[in-house]
Amino acid sequence: MSLSRLIIQNFRNLNAVDLELSHGFNFLVGENGSGKTSLLEAIFYLGHGRSFKSNVSNRIIHYDHDDFILHGKIDEAKHSWSVGLQKKRQGETVLKINGQDGNKIADLAHLLPMQIIMPEGLTLLNGGPSYRRAFLDWGLFHLHPQFYSEWTALRRLLKQRNAALAQVRQYQDLLHWDKELVKLTEKVSQMRVDYATKLSPEIEKTCQFFLPELEITAQFYQGWNKDQDYAEVLAQGFERDKGIGYTMIGAQKADFRFRANGLPVEDVLSRGQLKLLMCALRLAQGEYLIQQKQQQCLFLIDDFASELDLNKRELLTQRLRESQSQVFVTAITKDQLHYMDWQNNANDVLFEVQDGEITPC
Ligand SMILES: Nc1ncnc2c1ncn2[C@@H]1O[C@H](COP(=O)(O)OP(=O)(O)OP(=O)(O)O)[C@@H](O)[C@H]1O
Ligand SMILES: [Mg+2]
Repeated sequence: MSLSRLIIQNFRNLNAVDLELSHGFNFLVGENGSGKTSLLEAIFYLGHGRSFKSNVSNRIIHYDHDDFILHGKIDEAKHSWSVGLQKKRQGETVLKINGQDGNKIADLAHLLPMQIIMPEGLTLLNGGPSYRRAFLDWGLFHLHPQFYSEWTALRRLLKQRNAALAQVRQYQDLLHWDKELVKLTEKVSQMRVDYATKLSPEIEKTCQFFLPELEITAQFYQGWNKDQDYAEVLAQGFERDKGIGYTMIGAQKADFRFRANGLPVEDVLSRGQLKLLMCALRLAQGEYLIQQKQQQCLFLIDDFASELDLNKRELLTQRLRESQSQVFVTAITKDQLHYMDWQNNANDVLFEVQDGEITPC
């Protein structure tokens, strides 16, 4: 799977972009503010129906226009898909896959799995558990056909339970919700445990490649004490939950934590090491998907050269090349790309980005 063509209209400063893309490495070189990150953001939007930068889509639509349009052609060995997404200033989203309406963003996301590696992505390691849950759930979304519907149902039920907490007087009145909640929570948690158990050795191996001086371990926390029955946890926490107005304990609090030589990574690693670890995690997860599903994964790499020494940049390039993935890499100058050996690979394409115009060179 690769994105072979991308058309962008009125997305930030990218007013009219039409690119034939390489299924290997695509390099984007340009000055500050030229539109490099915006191109990665557009690809990300096409695969998620949202931005990695802003929750307000009106900020993404070009100042002088009322909508943005993204159109992509996705090629696989035997199929190809044409996907289109239009976002209007009034909030409406129009999504088409092969010219057909009635698709969901999740259908689009299944077609375009992608991992993004960017400086802001360090929140995966030093931000709250929600970033790591999102990381874990990405893999489940792509690998486990049931996960998305179960997790959506669980979140819906939690909302209903939270609203009901204000109405009920005794725990008996909640039992009706909790029976279903326990069932769904156990299912979702089991899927996460199984996936985390399989992914962890892959992560640990990839970390040895990038950070051989450290012993990195990954551990999943389901969100409540694993020796306790979740039904009991809910019953015992009723008065507290009622007091605060929401369900404090459960799968919505799960975490996937990383340690270096037994200590929390965010406390002991240098910034460069954290960056390498983030890169190793995303690479390991993308590669695991490729291996399990025989489906490609895109890698979007923004401003990666900064803070990494030459040897590490080369290691990253080597791994990405071996995975035969489609990769998008931004840089301010061509010099920063030497370590990616771009001149010796026939499939590589270099684009120059200037004031929102993108041209191959
Ligand atoms: N809604 C919008 N409409 C038009 N232009 C916008 C909009 N939002 C942001 N911009 C502008 O788009 C330009 C592209 O920004 P982008 O972040 O893509 O640059 P960049 O090439 O990644 O730069 P850097 O090297 O500094 O990271 C910026 O000049 C920004 O001010
Ligand atoms: Mg940028």
